Amino acid sequence: MTRVLGIETSCDETAAAVVTRDAEGTPMILSNIVLSQVEAHAAFGGVVPEIAARAHVEALDGVIEAALSDAGVTLDDIDGIAATAGPGLIGGLIVGLTTAKALAAVSKKPLLPINHLEGHALTARLTEGLDFPFLLLLVSGGHTQILHVAGLGRYERWASTIDDALGEAFDKTAKLLSLPYPGGPSVEKAALEGDPARFDFPRPLKGEGRPDFSFSGLKTAVRRAASELAPLSRSDVADICASFQRAVTESLTDRVARSLKRFHEARPDLVRPKLVVAGGVAANAAIRDALKTLSEAEGFDLIAPPLRLCGDNAAMIAWAGLERLEAGLAAEDTMSFAPRPRWPLDETTAPIIGTGKRGAKA
Ligand code: KG4
Ligand code: ZN
Repeated sequence: MTRVLGIETSCDETAAAVVTRDAEGTPMILSNIVLSQVEAHAAFGGVVPEIAARAHVEALDGVIEAALSDAGVTLDDIDGIAATAGPGLIGGLIVGLTTAKALAAVSKKPLLPINHLEGHALTARLTEGLDFPFLLLLVSGGHTQILHVAGLGRYERWASTIDDALGEAFDKTAKLLSLPYPGGPSVEKAALEGDPARFDFPRPLKGEGRPDFSFSGLKTAVRRAASELAPLSRSDVADICASFQRAVTESLTDRVARSLKRFHEARPDLVRPKLVVAGGVAANAAIRDALKTLSEAEGFDLIAPPLRLCGDNAAMIAWAGLERLEAGLAAEDTMSFAPRPRWPLDETTAPIIGTGKRGAKA
């Protein structure tokens, strides 16, 4: 039974987890500790890299100990140590990867440096036992992209944002409206009481042939509406949020539809292909609903991991490590692996702005 310890410190969650498979080979999460730093950053309206790195240093040992004890194992029972090595904030990556190297050295276990995006990409295999290939929509604070996941380590980027990430658009909108950080959940909550038809915000790139995403124009439109109405009443804020969320959702689904069609053309043999949505924004109910409707209309099944595994966590890192270990894809000289603040999953497709970047969420 392979057991892997995972460590995640690339942004503002300090996380450790242990995963394995049961006797039938079904993936199992033995422990999953996520310590959020949200409160430490809230006053600044976004992640402050120096504060994040310091908080990881202070918390990581305890979080790893808790993950091992929750799983009922010691380091001796672990077969590999996986840690996020990029993309992300360099300070946090150094803390997590160096700790993993030290643990690997003392326990003489293999070290698995993991691409954070691969963790998100493989989560649905951990939670649903999903087979390759599938289409992945990754929507987080630092990324918005569509990947054709053909197999382990075989990722082809089909679309990407040309400016802001979707989570970033939510965070910036929240900041403009003085809603609390992190912005995504605040905007979603305010939108529940609002009128989505009051403001006719743009649907960026809607109807265009290229499959990419764009969200920065929307932020400008929100800023204009907010400054014209200032001071804003509670219902103005709610209406702006509802109208923003509707515009975002319509732009997103129009863009995703391009890649669904391409997937059908590329894989006509698959009767009911899967669209997986992952990343923090996948927690948004309006976006999930719209993606479900779109998937059904296009003959796809939508797979959305449970909410606690949508955002950053270490179970997904441990799982990616376990898959690599089992597939014999664990590189040998990993002790000299340096953290990579930028690390696109698909290194062959020409980068567009916003790709491979995973910086502060704000
Ligand atoms: O995947 P994640 O936890 O961290 C990154 O890798 O960035 O995603 C965080 C992002 C933030 O931008 C946050 O505002 C957004 O996901 N988010 C949401 C919701 N919950 C989190 N966006 C929209 N609606 C939500 N309910
Ligand atoms: Zn993430």
